[in-house]
Amino acid sequence: MANLWVALLLIVGVFTIVHSQAHQYSQTFLEENNYHDSISEDLTVFNKGKNQVTNLIKVPKKGSSPPESFVVVSPKEDGVYPILFFIHGTMLTNEAYSELFKFIASHGFIVVAPKLFRAFPLPSLPSHQDEINRAAAVANWLPSNLQKILQNNKLANVQPNFNSFAISGHSRGGKSAFALALGMSETKLTVKISALIGIDPVAGASPDDRTKPYVLTYHDNSFKLPVPVTVIGTGLGNSTIPCAPNNVSHQQFYNECKKSSHFVINKYGHMEMLDDFLLDPLAITMSVMCKQSFGPKATMRRTLGGVMVAFMNTYFRGDGGQYHAIMANPSLAPTKLFVEEKGNFGFAPNHAQA
Ligand SMILES: *[C@@H]1O[C@H](CO)[C@@H](O)[C@H](O)[C@H]1NC(C)=O
Ligand SMILES: *[C@@H]1O[C@H](CO)[C@@H](O)[C@H](O)[C@H]1NC(C)=O
Repeated sequence: MANLWVALLLIVGVFTIVHSQAHQYSQTFLEENNYHDSISEDLTVFNKGKNQVTNLIKVPKKGSSPPESFVVVSPKEDGVYPILFFIHGTMLTNEAYSELFKFIASHGFIVVAPKLFRAFPLPSLPSHQDEINRAAAVANWLPSNLQKILQNNKLANVQPNFNSFAISGHSRGGKSAFALALGMSETKLTVKISALIGIDPVAGASPDDRTKPYVLTYHDNSFKLPVPVTVIGTGLGNSTIPCAPNNVSHQQFYNECKKSSHFVINKYGHMEMLDDFLLDPLAITMSVMCKQSFGPKATMRRTLGGVMVAFMNTYFRGDGGQYHAIMANPSLAPTKLFVEEKGNFGFAPNHAQA
């Protein structure tokens, strides 16, 4: 076993060097296109927000309280903030998304991300149903306990608003987010979901090889989702080694929503929202296995995070201006973005806050 890890670490080391060099060479590639940083200046969602943010607050599992370990990233300023619950992808860790979490928190959101996979001492591969149940258990634990965690971290006047609770996830975790919103958890979800964001969701290796519980039905408009939904895919997720294969990924999830918006970040791959510097060997391995653009990952995170913030501002703050601007003119985004939508949720669920 030890040898396996040494071998893996060596491979990862080489990949990391190749990877970081490729990133340097590619800087010019994306800056040549029309989607220059300056274009997006009037849309504040694509830039870092006004709030100072904490580092990752790591909360360890402690029996059933909390039932799993998770991380929190919060704005530091006093206030009442909506919550983004985020479920990581296959064999990744919640900590590999810290830059994305900080970006979103800087726009006034408390991000909570459970850890549902353990690499050491031996990788544990829970069934997908088990992962969904465990995510539900963490979500259910939060209303009575998140405030205290914030208090213990010198954030006594930062308050989570459980009337504005968005559930999201990446890859396998994106499917988990859909499963939770569709009531497919065996652990009954007691926290109320008010919005759903699927980030390059993946339901399995192919339509015939999907993880259970099955979420996709292969009938358009079949999802009964009472909350606003957006699906954000990547353009390279389905190429060569498909990390997000056709027919089990973002397009199919969107097709099955009755009302939703759909974004595709065309020039980027399935894993390119992860942190620039990954510490976890498995996360690095997963990340180099998928097709990459080698464009700046910061641009990917600003685009993805910006769309997420614009979407949540629409429904949680009654502020849909930037969201509609992006839908009308996707070239306002920092990199090429495809958009479409169907149905209309209106602005009814306005949990406006001070
Ligand atoms: C990959 O997905 C995009 C849409 O996201 C589609 O336009 C393209 O044709 C797909 N590529 C392949 C190889 O299927
Ligand atoms: C599978 O994906 C391809 C390419 O995206 C598409 O043309 C086809 O209609 C899809 N099949 C099903 C059953 O959805």
